[in-house]
Amino acid sequence: MLINMAMTADGKIATSNRVVSSFGSARDQTHLLDLRATADAVMAGARTVDLNAINMGPGPAKYRRSRLRRGLSEYNLRIIVSRSGSVNLGAAVFNKSFSPIIVLTTRRPSAKRLQALRKVSDEVKVFGDKEINFHTALRWLRHKWKVKRLLCEGGGEVNDALFRAGLVDELHLTICPKIFGGRDAPTIADGIGRSSLAKATYLQFKSAKRLGDEMFLVYRAAGTSKSPRRSSSRRIVPT
Ligand SMILES: NC(=O)c1ccc[n+]([C@@H]2O[C@H](COP(=O)([O-])OP(=O)(O)OC[C@H]3O[C@@H](n4cnc5c(N)ncnc54)[C@H](OP(=O)(O)O)[C@@H]3O)[C@@H](O)[C@H]2O)c1
Repeated sequence: MLINMAMTADGKIATSNRVVSSFGSARDQTHLLDLRATADAVMAGARTVDLNAINMGPGPAKYRRSRLRRGLSEYNLRIIVSRSGSVNLGAAVFNKSFSPIIVLTTRRPSAKRLQALRKVSDEVKVFGDKEINFHTALRWLRHKWKVKRLLCEGGGEVNDALFRAGLVDELHLTICPKIFGGRDAPTIADGIGRSSLAKATYLQFKSAKRLGDEMFLVYRAAGTSKSPRRSSSRRIVPT
């Protein structure tokens, strides 16, 4: 599983009023589409879907051709994470029907809400009572929907749950030359977070590329200090 995020130099992924969350360059947008072109499915949290006019699809024809050359389906699956089922049913993502939309949720939503979610999506699947058990959910996605490579595009709360579950293999991070400030502005990993250094996710540097004023970083998640994964090779791309 990969996570791809753009953040400001002060570590924010949106302004504190959540009005601005798209602030990367055209190159960053290309990077996002390049990564989507390698993934079976793209996943996002309910607030990311609510607040942005995104379709979570592969984009222009050249990216779809690139998917087909890789042996992937022309359009990636789309996965929305919503524990209470509160995702806005009128969100832009539900208006495009080019590929299946799967909603992962818990036992919290009422039967009526589940029914409403089923009307706008292709499958609604419950994992866990109050929190999604992402280990089980990813196993199911692999088995039922053949999702081998999953790209998560935030937001901070979903990312945090995935990091805590130890499910993230790689983090793609674009550092954009801006400062948003604001203690309430979201970051790449919010949610519950960690209570000790030992529980932190450790990252291994994989590559860095500077394009204009932006830095494109790739880290491999190396587990926690208690369960480190094996070290990987490093690559620095000269600019
Ligand atoms: N700069 C970037 O690259 C980037 C990328 C993505 C998003 N963003 C921005 O980040 C902000 C959204 O981030 P966010 O952290 O507030 O929201 P988020 O992670 O997109 O969505 C949060 C929602 O996802 C569901 N959820 C989260 N963790 C869960 C878990 N463990 N189990 C089950 N459901 C879970 C819940 O849905 P329910 O409330 O329905 O239960 C929760 O309210 C927006 O401003 C967005 O535009 C920026």
